[in-house]
Amino acid sequence: AVERAAAIERIKRLLKEKDAVLVAHYYTDDDIQALAEETGGCVADSLEMARFGNQHPASTLLVAGVRFMGETAKILTPEKKIIMPTLDATCSLDIGCPADDFAKFCDEHSDRTVVVYANTSAAVKARADWVVTSSIALDVVDHLDSEGEKILWAPDKHLGGYVAKQTGADMLLWQGACIVHDEFKSKALHDLKIQYPNAAVLVHPESPESVVDMADAVGSTSQLIKASQEMDNDMFIVATDRGIFYKMQQLSPEKTFIEAPTGGQGATCRSCAHCPWMAMNGLQAIEEALLDGTGKEVFVDADIREKALVPLNRMLNFQV
Ligand code: 13P
Ligand code: SF4
Repeated sequence: AVERAAAIERIKRLLKEKDAVLVAHYYTDDDIQALAEETGGCVADSLEMARFGNQHPASTLLVAGVRFMGETAKILTPEKKIIMPTLDATCSLDIGCPADDFAKFCDEHSDRTVVVYANTSAAVKARADWVVTSSIALDVVDHLDSEGEKILWAPDKHLGGYVAKQTGADMLLWQGACIVHDEFKSKALHDLKIQYPNAAVLVHPESPESVVDMADAVGSTSQLIKASQEMDNDMFIVATDRGIFYKMQQLSPEKTFIEAPTGGQGATCRSCAHCPWMAMNGLQAIEEALLDGTGKEVFVDADIREKALVPLNRMLNFQV
């Protein structure tokens, strides 16, 4: 605990010295989220992280999350230095959608408007007409559908299926999935609901359809946090990464939050809801990134950056 406190103090000093601000996702460790809050950074969902980094005056953004979040920051603000605790923190959605295969898919369906989830590489974004995050996907697709557009969606099949169902849009789906959310199980959730009948179920739409169907609220991380604050229930079963409990508990200390059940080892593994790549963001890695940054700075090829900026800006400028 003493060493942790000392590391936190050193990081605070370094953030000032380097004119850096910490931009963290809700799935990172509690320590990191607390540090971002204390030092004037932000803890946010992926859309708010992009907006915050875009507008903040600091010359260096320290992005604690996964690779696509750092890349998005670099695409939006190439004049800034973007560092990450680790560049190895990827995402199964990004891995499952290689740029070459994706380009072929787009070529085969060139009559469709290409909408990609933010959880993709810069090269995949460069091929898109729109980038969306889970907090804005419904609104953007609804708008495109109202204009008569047919959509090619990638990579998350569950989020894509959910958006198609809600909007009625014609969507051709890439078959990617998040390894964390894909593990939530509706049967075990049903059993847990019997145990806690008054608990409300909060679900991130990267989860399977059968789990989403049981939800009292569906949404991005920030939308789920808002729901946990606004709903009257005393207890919530939460189907997303458990990192989100830090903020939910902070905003509603009197409420109880429990993890939705995952597959894991049999149907009883209740501790799997944590992204292994988000977990790579630790205090030591943050300090190293600030001290040296070698191998921790994000770069995006200039040509790809220019192309990816167009659909990203469409998202940021989209008014509901
Ligand atoms: P949010 O945009 O809802 O924060 O989601 C990001 C993510 O990676 C979810 O797994
Ligand atoms: Fe990707 Fe899933 Fe991790 Fe989010 S939780 S970063 S979607 S692997």
